[in-house]
Amino acid sequence: MSELQNDRFLRALMRQPVDRTPIWMMRQAGRYLPEYRATRAQAGDFLSLCKNTPLACEVTLQPLERYPLDAAILFSDILTIPDAMGLGLYFETGEGPKFRNVIRSEADVAALPTLKADVDLDYVMNAVSTIRSALNGRVPLIGFSGSPWTLATYMVEGGSSKDFREAKKLAYAQPEVMHRLLDHLADSVIDYLNCQIRAGAQAVQIFDTWGGVLSGWAYQEFSLDYMKKIADGLIRENDGRRVPLIIFTKNGGQWLEAMAESGADALGLDWTTDIGNARARVGDRVALQGNMDPTMLYAPKERIRQEVADILKRFGPGTGHVFNLGHGITPGVDPEHAGAFIEAVVELSGEYHREG
Ligand code: CP3
Repeated sequence: MSELQNDRFLRALMRQPVDRTPIWMMRQAGRYLPEYRATRAQAGDFLSLCKNTPLACEVTLQPLERYPLDAAILFSDILTIPDAMGLGLYFETGEGPKFRNVIRSEADVAALPTLKADVDLDYVMNAVSTIRSALNGRVPLIGFSGSPWTLATYMVEGGSSKDFREAKKLAYAQPEVMHRLLDHLADSVIDYLNCQIRAGAQAVQIFDTWGGVLSGWAYQEFSLDYMKKIADGLIRENDGRRVPLIIFTKNGGQWLEAMAESGADALGLDWTTDIGNARARVGDRVALQGNMDPTMLYAPKERIRQEVADILKRFGPGTGHVFNLGHGITPGVDPEHAGAFIEAVVELSGEYHREG
């Protein structure tokens, strides 16, 4: 494998000194880019794009051709796991993901097959190794998975949800069934991420998009405990280098102290948490990733730059910060505004990393 030329993302995650704050964007390969829309049209639809190795590789690299980003993220989706378990994932335009089969009972959970990620999700592993070779050491490659709780919400609801009624009903009325589902998913996520690491992922992120809809005790019991199990089961070193684990619970700002004890190397923050306050709370236990409101990208470029300056100042001097948005970039963003955001981080963050 070729030598990594830019490792500031991996270094910042391990809280080692860097020359400037590294940056990548959640959903950086996506619909806001015209070249992405063109490649997706070539593949036919989104899922076919995920399953097409050369085209998935192409869209992964597209944002890196445009911007000085410090990491690439595998182009795929978190819902590949339930799809591989036979739930039948499909996307209806403008409506988000849907499943043909849902999980509602003890019998449904018992009938779920055991995932063999290298076989059942071989297209993901092919994408990882192909992207890794194509990157040729330019920047590190991030692998990812959904958290067990977040995957469970989609599997129980049958798609996206406003109030998570079915998933919460199962958790509160039949907790033992929900726990069996979550435990099964945690084992699957461990296998899935370890296969991605063996295929070449150099850091991994768990997207816990819906952990923040739970109350404190329920977050601990139904989401965080399973992310801890994953942290314990992951390959943490590969090719002589630490494979950092990032945990991102959207709306999880209240629980950072508990998350910092989970075994993750870094925590993703959404924009509702002050990053300076978050740093004071987690201290030197974990790095932080985030956290500009993605909607700020609709503001004028000067306003975006000012927001970047403000977030850098709130975090303060020293390493342990990976700049990102607080959630994924949205389809309507002008790519030039994304460029202004990234440029501001590149230009303004150096002064926070001088020795002395
Ligand atoms: O960050 C990246 O660039 C990597 C790619 C990535 C995608 N999905 C591509 C995608 C990642 C990391 C995800 C994770 C994902 N998928 C999450 C967790 C992160 C988050 O955003 O909260 C969730 C909840 C999903 C499930 C999912 N997939 C949703 C809710 C949607 C949006 C549906 C829609 O039409 O807006 C998807 C589809 C999806 N995943 C798209 C992309 C680029 C858009 C599909 C398209 O091109 O039409």
